[in-house]
Amino acid sequence: MRVLITGGMGQLGIDLTKQLSLNHQVYSVGKKEVDVANLDNVINVVRRINPDLIINSAAYTIVDECEINIDLAYRINTVGAKNMAIASLEVNSKLLHISTDFVFDGNSTNPYIEFDSPNPLSIYGKSKLAGEVCIKDICQKHYVLRTSWLYGKSGNNFVKTMLKLAEERKCIRVVDDQVGTPTYTLDLVEIVKALIKTEAYGTYHASNDGQCSWNEFAKTIFNLSGNKEIEVLSITSEELNRPAQRPKYSVMRNYMLELQLEYYVRNWQDALREYFGK
Ligand SMILES: NC(=O)c1ccc[n+]([C@@H]2O[C@H](COP(=O)([O-])OP(=O)(O)OC[C@H]3O[C@@H](n4cnc5c(N)ncnc54)[C@H](OP(=O)(O)O)[C@@H]3O)[C@@H](O)[C@H]2O)c1
Repeated sequence: MRVLITGGMGQLGIDLTKQLSLNHQVYSVGKKEVDVANLDNVINVVRRINPDLIINSAAYTIVDECEINIDLAYRINTVGAKNMAIASLEVNSKLLHISTDFVFDGNSTNPYIEFDSPNPLSIYGKSKLAGEVCIKDICQKHYVLRTSWLYGKSGNNFVKTMLKLAEERKCIRVVDDQVGTPTYTLDLVEIVKALIKTEAYGTYHASNDGQCSWNEFAKTIFNLSGNKEIEVLSITSEELNRPAQRPKYSVMRNYMLELQLEYYVRNWQDALREYFGK
């Protein structure tokens, strides 16, 4: 397949580009080549490349900044997604779009499935949900993948932040009242590879299995990386007082992957162990 990847310089974009290039003709573009918020720019590039599949991995992902730069968040996460849908329709390609667990409000006590109603708490979550809606309205051949707490070898993520803090401090405070699922970018790429072979369009939850709090995630990172001395203290979200409200519980079950593809993703601890080469 000819595959166009937007946000190709991002954490997930880099891994998608590397892995899909093994079997497909991949055109990976960063913000300089394709600004997803600019429809003319998007249409021109998409017409030129004429892809069979577009993967939109571009997003404004700094959750707290989105609370301040509201228009920018909607421009990139909503209008950007909408533009990619219009462009897909133009060349009759499939569109795979990445969304987030932050579309949910966290009031559930059971893992969210694809049929549960979203109710985002933050501008980031609202702008991402609005992007999903635009794609579903415009482009029939879509896969919308909601993932969570992404980490990989490239770009910035919680794992790298924790390892950096461990070099500077003896003690760190990490919230223990937000529960979700860390997801390894390479596991998400495998899900993408499995889905794009099919015509099973629709919305999918796409995370590693299991759940933990950020605090438990941090402790597991330090165990696996051999940082035994660092002390990880618990704090609440109220104490941390970030601008954006986050769901207290955003665990998702990959129910549609299980039902439609009989596809099961390994648990987050095994994935993290592999990340650390254990
Ligand atoms: N990271 C997570 O924990 C997480 C969790 C759930 C879902 N997701 C979703 O997963 C996807 C990939 O996230 P990621 O972790 O790879 O984030 P990332 O590293 O921030 O990558 C996003 C990329 O999009 C680019 N971008 C920003 N504005 C753009 C624009 N107007 N046009 C084109 N590109 C633009 C960014 O470039 P600049 O850096 O130069 O701005 C960046 O390279 C996103 O859809 C995100 O919402 C992420």
